Amino acid sequence: MISFWCLLLWITTTLAFSNNGSSVQSNSTVNITSFSNVSSPFGYTNGNTSNSFHYRGVALGGWLLLEPWITPLLFNATIPASGNTSEMAVDEYTFCQVLGKDEALKRLHNHWTTFYNESDIQDIKNYGFNMVRVPIGYWAFEMLPDDPYVPGAREYLDKVINWLHKYDLKVWIDVHGVPGSQNGFDNSGRFLNNTPGWQNSTENIDLSHRVLRKIYTRYGSSEFYSQYGDTILGIEVVNEPMGPKLNMTQVADFYEKSYKDARVYSDTNNTIVFHDAFQPAGYWDPFLNSTGSEPGRLKNYNILIDHHHYEVFSAGELNSTISTHLNNIRNYAMGIQREEQSHPAVVGEWSAALTDCTPWLNSVHFGTRWEGTFPYTNKPINNKYLGKCANINNWDTWSKQHKRFTRKYIEMQLDQYESKMNGWIFWTYKTENSIEWDFKKLAKYELFPQPFSKRQYIVDGVDTKPETGASARLTPKDSVTVLMVMLLAVFLF
Ligand SMILES: *[C@@H]1O[C@H](CO)[C@@H](O)[C@H](O)[C@H]1NC(C)=O
Ligand SMILES: *[C@@H]1O[C@H](CO)[C@@H](O)[C@H](O)[C@H]1NC(C)=O
Ligand SMILES: *[C@@H]1O[C@H](CO)[C@@H](O)[C@H](O)[C@H]1NC(C)=O
Ligand SMILES: *[C@@H]1O[C@H](CO)[C@@H](O)[C@H](O)[C@H]1NC(C)=O
Ligand SMILES: *[C@@H]1O[C@H](CO)[C@@H](O)[C@H](O)[C@H]1NC(C)=O
Ligand SMILES: *[C@@H]1O[C@H](CO)[C@@H](O)[C@H](O)[C@H]1NC(C)=O
Ligand SMILES: *[C@@H]1O[C@H](CO)[C@@H](O)[C@H](O)[C@H]1NC(C)=O
Ligand SMILES: *[C@@H]1O[C@H](CO)[C@@H](O)[C@H](O)[C@H]1NC(C)=O
Ligand SMILES: *[C@@H]1O[C@H](CO)[C@@H](O)[C@H](O)[C@H]1NC(C)=O
Ligand SMILES: *[C@@H]1O[C@H](CO)[C@@H](O)[C@H](O)[C@H]1NC(C)=O
Ligand SMILES: *[C@@H]1O[C@H](CO)[C@@H](O)[C@H](O)[C@H]1NC(C)=O
Ligand SMILES: *[C@@H]1O[C@H](CO)[C@@H](O)[C@H](O)[C@H]1NC(C)=O
Repeated sequence: MISFWCLLLWITTTLAFSNNGSSVQSNSTVNITSFSNVSSPFGYTNGNTSNSFHYRGVALGGWLLLEPWITPLLFNATIPASGNTSEMAVDEYTFCQVLGKDEALKRLHNHWTTFYNESDIQDIKNYGFNMVRVPIGYWAFEMLPDDPYVPGAREYLDKVINWLHKYDLKVWIDVHGVPGSQNGFDNSGRFLNNTPGWQNSTENIDLSHRVLRKIYTRYGSSEFYSQYGDTILGIEVVNEPMGPKLNMTQVADFYEKSYKDARVYSDTNNTIVFHDAFQPAGYWDPFLNSTGSEPGRLKNYNILIDHHHYEVFSAGELNSTISTHLNNIRNYAMGIQREEQSHPAVVGEWSAALTDCTPWLNSVHFGTRWEGTFPYTNKPINNKYLGKCANINNWDTWSKQHKRFTRKYIEMQLDQYESKMNGWIFWTYKTENSIEWDFKKLAKYELFPQPFSKRQYIVDGVDTKPETGASARLTPKDSVTVLMVMLLAVFLF
């Protein structure tokens, strides 16, 4: 019996992978308009958000692709016996390099097995989410000859799809790292000082396409569909390609080829997701835009534009009053609402962070703009620091103001992303220590509304309890202040 199931598993796996993407080259003879009116499982929107799937999602960040700030303990465990931190891993690439493939696989296997399991998926359902975004690196499918990475994450992608199906949740598979790195961020698997190397060789681009074809072939097969129905909601071809540092003609070309391949290699018409590549809202309006030919019943490529929004990666944004932060959200959402005329769109990443204080958020060995520490020391705006970071992950020290601001910031994003577009996906479900980026903790501390529709402050885009005067700017207490307040309290009472 066991060997029969093993055989079956082997046959299914082999079948799914026998077409490894090399038998059909990127097909320039395919006229893309032949894929311009696909029928999709959830119905299309094109400006009509009432009859389509509305995303209320959360990312499973730092699981199948490591990010140091999400799991700092895994990375601290790579500090050598000498204690020389310059030799520790700073991303999944160096994690595997520093430890060697055998030890890396051992630790990764343990991480994959423990960081997420079925009960997390059940909790995610109970919190009211309807989908998850699962980031994964290309090396789970195929590698460059000299890559230090270890494979194995794909098995867990299959596992989570099985659980998601069980709890009636949808999934969007997100290729979060491509060969050479599309942005040079540690979250692509390879930290290259924020400089992409993806387009430096055709080998990188070709491998990216081959990996996507494997994904389309497997997760878009009719076999998969017959087992999991419409659980696979979408496939994102590449997360956050750093447009301003890349050749955008080539990015658009990659996007178009990936789209064609999706329709050639998949049996199902999954939504193909394109990140905005850090271009302004509306930039992608002409791309695969077949709207307008038929009022009411529009042609449908079934694509989705993915926007990410944070306000902590520049000193100017950090140094904002809460009302400016809330205004920024309204303006940002308005831009995306206009874009809905051409394509459906979501904010596929956002967080509750009002500081960049979470350790290593800006990369391992990097300090923060909030404190003005390396390498953010010589910018004029940081001649004075904005605050102290020390207690950012210590809930007991959070001020009432910080809690209130955070809840307002979350509520405004829910309000705007719910009403002006096809929904949202929070980054991320859990972390080892962070609060500002951790849904589970934010929900536990009642900063993230439960249910999502519950509001304490924001109603129809308006802050019903606005701040006044100097208190409108976030001023987290540092440890000294906390100590003084405690001493004062002891003294007074
Ligand atoms: C996959 O494709 C590559 C070339 O693109 C080829 O070298 C390799 O043998 C193929 N692997 C399988 C399992 O078919
Ligand atoms: C390209 O697609 C066409 C139509 O689907 C097909 O006939 C042709 O064989 C494909 N060419 C290649 C190189 O795959
Ligand atoms: C693709 O097909 C459409 C409609 O059939 C046609 O108008 C268009 O010229 C074709 N494009 C190319 C590049 O052949
Ligand atoms: C995909 O869209 C095409 C074109 O509308 C349609 O013929 C086909 O049945 C769709 N496939 C599925 C699985 O829905
Ligand atoms: C939007 O979709 C809903 C539900 O399918 C439909 O009732 C409504 O007429 C559509 N609105 C427009 C403007 O097409
Ligand atoms: C990781 O190591 C650094 C440097 O030794 C230390 O400052 C930090 O507290 C450690 N982080 C965790 C989560 O243990
Ligand atoms: C720590 O490691 C770095 C990188 O290998 C090396 O350049 C440096 O000299 C080492 N420092 C010490 C104190 O050994
Ligand atoms: C890729 O090319 C850019 C521009 O020439 C260069 O700055 C970067 O260092 C290269 N990256 C890699 C990984 O080779
Ligand atoms: C971008 O790539 C295209 C296509 O490969 C090329 O024609 C163009 O010169 C490149 N642009 C720049 C600024 O390098
Ligand atoms: C996309 O299509 C819509 C509907 O026809 C149109 O309003 C919009 O201007 C188009 N965008 C571009 C840039 O072509
Ligand atoms: C798109 O497909 C639908 C059926 O799914 C059809 O009613 C409609 O006429 C098609 N639109 C165009 C512009 O071909
Ligand atoms: C923050 O902005 C205010 C004005 O809004 C300015 O006075 C202050 O210097 C800024 N702080 C820093 C550290 O840049």
